[in-house]
Amino acid sequence: MSPQALADLSSRLPDLRLLTEPGDLEHYGRDWTRRWTPAPLAIALPASIEEVQGIVRWANDHKVAIVPSGGRTGLSGGAVAANGELVLSLARMNRVLGFDAVDRTLTVQPGIALEAVHTAAREHGLIYPVDFAARGSCSIGGNIATNAGGIRVIRYGNTREWIAGLKMVAGNGELLDLNRGLIKNSSGYDLRQLMIGSEGTLGIMVEATLRLTDPPPTSQVMLLALPDMEALMQVFALFRAKLSLQAFEFFTDVALKHVLAHGAQRAIDGDYPYYVVTEFDAADERAQEAALAVFEQGMEQEWIADGVMAQSEAQAAALWRLREGITESLAPHKPYKNDISVRIGAVPAFLHEIQALLAREYPQMEVVWFGHIGDGNLHINVLKPTVLADTDFIAQCEHVTKLLAETLQRHGGSISAEHGIGLVKRAYLESTRSAAEIALMRGVKAVFDPNGILNPGKLFV
Ligand code: MLT
Ligand code: ZN
Repeated sequence: MSPQALADLSSRLPDLRLLTEPGDLEHYGRDWTRRWTPAPLAIALPASIEEVQGIVRWANDHKVAIVPSGGRTGLSGGAVAANGELVLSLARMNRVLGFDAVDRTLTVQPGIALEAVHTAAREHGLIYPVDFAARGSCSIGGNIATNAGGIRVIRYGNTREWIAGLKMVAGNGELLDLNRGLIKNSSGYDLRQLMIGSEGTLGIMVEATLRLTDPPPTSQVMLLALPDMEALMQVFALFRAKLSLQAFEFFTDVALKHVLAHGAQRAIDGDYPYYVVTEFDAADERAQEAALAVFEQGMEQEWIADGVMAQSEAQAAALWRLREGITESLAPHKPYKNDISVRIGAVPAFLHEIQALLAREYPQMEVVWFGHIGDGNLHINVLKPTVLADTDFIAQCEHVTKLLAETLQRHGGSISAEHGIGLVKRAYLESTRSAAEIALMRGVKAVFDPNGILNPGKLFV
């Protein structure tokens, strides 16, 4: 792309903040995947919808690719700019625009952090219930672009359930006002839902109206140690039947080893292969006694080997840290991430098959399992042995991901549960979506983005 194109952008939008320093290109050109070398052309930080539209029109005229960018905490490379793209960072469009007490909605700009959304909702006595460990750094725009899940899906569903309206700038620069906060709207295709999870390939989000809800009753957090996967599934069925679950998350002894080495506190003595952190409604003493009775039932059945019930908020936070600190504790080991889902009922059979596959294919590699087992969503992280070169490691992991994708296909699962396809999993899209579906998806992309300027190379090969 010619330097004149960038000069043209500045002359069309004189107030637009543009960054071209190497440090900025590096900072904004990558996400948490760390696999690609950032090489964007420049970083644009628009402050208004008009500036976003101006950038998109300019990109069409000059045939420049745009990478929409939020908190860059993504784990699938959806926000990576490694090929001379213009990064369109929404970091400056990060305000709360309004709260509607009757509709119980919060309207925000896409660059606002998830945690700031939580705070704003609580100020009105309500909650925005989607939650996960990256809450302080990720942006709501990125959450919506990937239909983010997290730790409370078992109670509240994915991001998709909580989006009442979206304003998007389509690939031709046109502003779309989708669904406008309506609860009922049976007027044809729901383009708002199409945008959710589209990973910046159909439009650039400039505003979102979020549904809020009542805070749950006081909750209780428990850590459980379990002897095997069958017991874990039995405990899940028992707890789900008898308690009102807000979260049911699992991790293995290997994950525990890493998170403890990273500063988390041990809460159960002894070694067990599986652990669960669960949170459930416990409004009063009676509810707490009921929870204890359920725990004891699990112990009697020998499904639970040991457990701890948090006695304070600080202890609850410490138990959650054992689960939420895992990603950070693995980061120095350059993990290759798989984020897969199967129907909950298919979890045990799928898990056994995959464990056998991994033991056969990765005898020397450390594999860390954790995730949202109550939603059928498992995170399988493979850690890079220090002796192996980065490229050899990735090649081996890609080979195993291919086998994993074949297994998933047989079980009717998905190669991406909540992280998105991005660059990391685009070669495996066919394991989850049929050829006919992918052809339709490409057709949709061409309608919304005729010149292919929006996040090209992401989602599809
Ligand atoms: C999590 O569940 O902790 C996140 O999806 C992050 C990860 O998979 O590393
Ligand atoms: Zn997750």
